[in-house]
Amino acid sequence: MKRTLGVCYYPEHWPESQWEEDAARMAALGLTWVRIGEFAWSYMEPQAGTYYFDWLHRAVETLGKAGLKVVLGTPTATPPRWMLDRYPDMLALDAQGRPRGFGSRRHYCFSHEGYRDECTKIVTALAEQFGKNPHVAAWQTDNEYACHNTVLSYSDAATEAFRTWLAQKYQSPDALNRAWGNIFWSMEYSDFDQIALPNLTVTEPNPSHVMDFRRFSSDQVVSFNRLQTKIIRKYSDAPIAHNYMGRITDFDHFDVGADLDIASWDSYPLGFLSDRLEASPEHKRRFVRQGDPDLQAFHHDLYRAVGRGRWWIMEQQPGPVNWAPDNPDPLPGMARLWAWEAFAHGAEAVCYFRWRQAPFAQEQMHAGLLRPDSVAAPAHDEAAQVARELAEMPDQDTATARVGLLFDYPSAWAWQTQPQGRDFDYFRLVFHVYKGLRRLGLNVDVLPPNTADLSAYSLVLAPGVATLSDAFLGALATYKGQAIIGPRSNAKTATFATPVPLPPNLPGMKATVMRVESLPPDVPVPLEQGGALLHWREKIETTDHVVEVAEDGFPALIAAEGLHYLGGWPDDVALDRILLAACHRAGLETDPLPEGLRRRDSATHRFLFNYNSVPVEWAGVTIPPAGVHWSKLD
Ligand code: GAL
Repeated sequence: MKRTLGVCYYPEHWPESQWEEDAARMAALGLTWVRIGEFAWSYMEPQAGTYYFDWLHRAVETLGKAGLKVVLGTPTATPPRWMLDRYPDMLALDAQGRPRGFGSRRHYCFSHEGYRDECTKIVTALAEQFGKNPHVAAWQTDNEYACHNTVLSYSDAATEAFRTWLAQKYQSPDALNRAWGNIFWSMEYSDFDQIALPNLTVTEPNPSHVMDFRRFSSDQVVSFNRLQTKIIRKYSDAPIAHNYMGRITDFDHFDVGADLDIASWDSYPLGFLSDRLEASPEHKRRFVRQGDPDLQAFHHDLYRAVGRGRWWIMEQQPGPVNWAPDNPDPLPGMARLWAWEAFAHGAEAVCYFRWRQAPFAQEQMHAGLLRPDSVAAPAHDEAAQVARELAEMPDQDTATARVGLLFDYPSAWAWQTQPQGRDFDYFRLVFHVYKGLRRLGLNVDVLPPNTADLSAYSLVLAPGVATLSDAFLGALATYKGQAIIGPRSNAKTATFATPVPLPPNLPGMKATVMRVESLPPDVPVPLEQGGALLHWREKIETTDHVVEVAEDGFPALIAAEGLHYLGGWPDDVALDRILLAACHRAGLETDPLPEGLRRRDSATHRFLFNYNSVPVEWAGVTIPPAGVHWSKLD
């Protein structure tokens, strides 16, 4: 598979006289793709029903003539102002019932039927106009579903749609009352129309109610996206992508991905390190200009799974961004390293965001490949280097990993709904385990929650999965490799009750989680072999083999042959030991790496990435700061 580069471009931001030169420079740089259109609704449809696509045809033509391929975005993340006069109630409402108003972007409620009609019209018009255009080689639906907290809406439209969703799911209010346990606190309903959204209650709402609202809200994103993909497919054979955003779990990306051909994600390593990562101040200082050494890789592996093998970076940070608490300049070389790391994880394309820094509006302070005065910014030359290297580099095929790590979006909702401890965050837990695997130099595949066949893997992990699927439990029952399930896995029923018999209820295992406790960050539970459990621990009763014991005598890790249950959140020391032992039993070769150095094998090459700001010597080579090294595998 040939790997390619691209860029995000906004022809509507620049005088038309500049387009040709821009296109020529993009082509000269070695770019293949240009994504356009995703915020240009007010220019495409200046008044209701009056379409103006001439400019877009000319833009596509100009880019195409220069040899570039276009990714055309549907503009539904930015409904124009006139639409609000028509549908004042199309805005999402926040949990306090306040409208999320016009003046930026993503100002819509996924459940609003009038808004969906408008989307149907603009997407149909766009697909009719460009569906057969030879330069339009891919599509993007909307832009970053969920960004800016936009999945949950407490509007009238959402209330109505939620009631319909519940009626379809439960068929009768009695069935719903039983499923939710509404006898508790006299919360019983006699009609679906009595059910409100789970906000503005006096104290905590019923968690089953909240979970159904989360599932419903995710389904609304899925059906909104499907509405668009169905239309596009009528007019075009080009593949369809959506650009997901990093560390967002508010809707089920696998469910949306089922309607796409390509999953893509927007990678802003320095923004994420500053804005959305739990890490020590030392760690953040050390990687301030490089980004966390594992966060990008985790998303690469996640979106490879979401895209069923086909995935891209749709937006790659090229310099300082504008939206994090601190916005440092990347270390020279990082714009190249980030791209190569994506390719090593199987990305088909990496597109930098954006071509030229905008001198106006919200993102003035966000770097591009060009400065606002059109002079090349540092990432321009790094992208050119990647383009030259790609031309010389033989095609890369993705290697199948031998380690599988389950990722389940509903579990993120589950532990937000009932955290039980301030630090129990699902993403954080899974990422913690992923980091442990990466420290050992392992390739990891992320597995969807309904994975039914584990036979390709020697080691499988499922931390924090609220409800294990029947498919996965079935696969575990016959699995011959090593598995580590837990902590807090299989701890809820499908309706968010506590299962009886008590968890973990794993095939062939005789164990009961008798009690759980959450702990303040400075109260570890030491383990006899060293290290400790943090944040969360479970007291387990078992007649199975006890592998790890807490100093107070309770089992922390138990085993029934290859199947393990982990009763707590291990610190790094305990995690490293547990993973190393599991790899040993599984016959997996490990390569414990120095801090900030990461390794990834493709089918033919071994890549080393140095996230440090100092050179690192490893395996007989010196890798400079922000350096990438590759060698052919035997
Ligand atoms: C992304 C978004 C882009 C741009 C970028 C800035 O989240 O998709 O439109 O805003 O962030 O970093």
